[in-house]
Amino acid sequence: MSYRVTLIRGDGIGPEITESVVEVFAAGDIPIEWEEAHAGLACLEKFGTPLPEATLESIRRNRVALKGPTTTPIGTGHRSINVAIRKAFDLFANVRPARSLPGVPTRYNDVDLILVRENIEDTYAGVEHWQTPDIAQSLRLISRPGSLAVIQYAFELARRLGRRKVTCVHKANIHKATDGLFLACFREVAQQYPELETDDILIDNACMQLVVRPERFDVMILPNLFGDIVSDLCAGLVGGLGVAPGGNIGNGYAVFEAVHGSAPDIAGKGIANPTAILLSAVQMLHHMGLHHDAERVETALRYTLVSGIKTRDLGGNASTREFTKAIISNLPPRAPDAAQGATEPPYQVAMPTPRSPESEGWQTVGVDLFFHSPEPPRNLPAQVGALRLRAISNRGVPIDPHAPPERYLLNWYRARYLAEAPLSEGDLQAFLQAITPHLQWTTIQRLYQKEGQPLYSELQAE
Ligand code: NAI
Repeated sequence: MSYRVTLIRGDGIGPEITESVVEVFAAGDIPIEWEEAHAGLACLEKFGTPLPEATLESIRRNRVALKGPTTTPIGTGHRSINVAIRKAFDLFANVRPARSLPGVPTRYNDVDLILVRENIEDTYAGVEHWQTPDIAQSLRLISRPGSLAVIQYAFELARRLGRRKVTCVHKANIHKATDGLFLACFREVAQQYPELETDDILIDNACMQLVVRPERFDVMILPNLFGDIVSDLCAGLVGGLGVAPGGNIGNGYAVFEAVHGSAPDIAGKGIANPTAILLSAVQMLHHMGLHHDAERVETALRYTLVSGIKTRDLGGNASTREFTKAIISNLPPRAPDAAQGATEPPYQVAMPTPRSPESEGWQTVGVDLFFHSPEPPRNLPAQVGALRLRAISNRGVPIDPHAPPERYLLNWYRARYLAEAPLSEGDLQAFLQAITPHLQWTTIQRLYQKEGQPLYSELQAE
């Protein structure tokens, strides 16, 4: 019995390091049949697209892929292939273990963390707009279903792996709505896992604690952007990017890849370290239930490192090929009676049904208008229908447009209009028709209030 897996070799060092996995798996008789597919810059040059439909089809068919790094142009050009694949298959959890390796000297030698990062939302939703020629804005999207999915996955992973503690890392003191929602989802899911210790910590403190006493953490769950940054910090704790693996997991699909990129500075030189992609392949084998083969590869890798055979980034002088050959020579034989294949089905997250503002008793009580103005806006109408002008702010700070400015002001403002009673759609349309001739608006935001509760105001969150 063999399992078919999509293999994307990628750009830069991608072909060199994925070849290492292919050779180790072949030598170890590991029952994986590779189906090659293409993505990345080289693919763009060859096939006219960085992510062909045939590649997505292959992942759809096989449900599991191993992906080499792909090059993403910075600032311009095509969007990240990784982000596109994560979105195409709703790979909501990015799982990045950080475990000390023998023979890889670092400040700590007993780090054993698993970082689970939300993988679709946050600023990575990619909803960005120019507001004026000087101001770019990114929408930080955190949803309840998206947060619940990844948090449930993190808890389930912790349970299945017999871990002791799950920590939510956030910035809910400042991002009261977005990180506040993520933290609320964490506390909700935690109740279903009473055997696990849980706590939460602010992202800034978490970074400090990680470098001072990493043993404080076990499984960590973070929103996307924080997770991206902190996972590189964790990679640094165990020896750097060359040894940091990762898996992108969704309901029914999984794509495994190293944390590092295509390393154009060393591409083609035959010196890249294949450890991270090999550990990603080990993670993939565990995901597929091929635990025995996963352990064989990891044992061979660890033994090779302990014996002092290392690539240059780890202080050795082995080439990628020499390192690969050493791993192959260290592969333990397969136990004839080892269980092959999944012993339990991959965990499926039950996605909640989306709720509507109406079903939750939310009422429209106002509007935030964002607009361009060369001067502080002094002529906005104080009252339009039932809506009264309550605040004008600049970069989130309330201002008095009639007072001499006390600080530097951007030429982009927010005006908040609120009504005493809930507004109808007709009221809103009439308001917008009346107000828009007075300003050059860029964004119009509806403000909700839950019946009987105060309006949450970001104007007070400075
Ligand atoms: P990078 O991770 O490619 O390289 C950073 C540094 O680490 C370089 O000095 C490189 O030589 C070294 N390095 C990385 N992997 C190594 C390995 N296996 N063995 C030895 N040394 C290694 O990051 P960089 O330079 O910022 O990005 C290069 C390209 O990769 C960019 O186009 C970026 O968008 C892309 N990228 C792709 C990722 C992916 O496909 N998963 C992830 C991160 C970046």
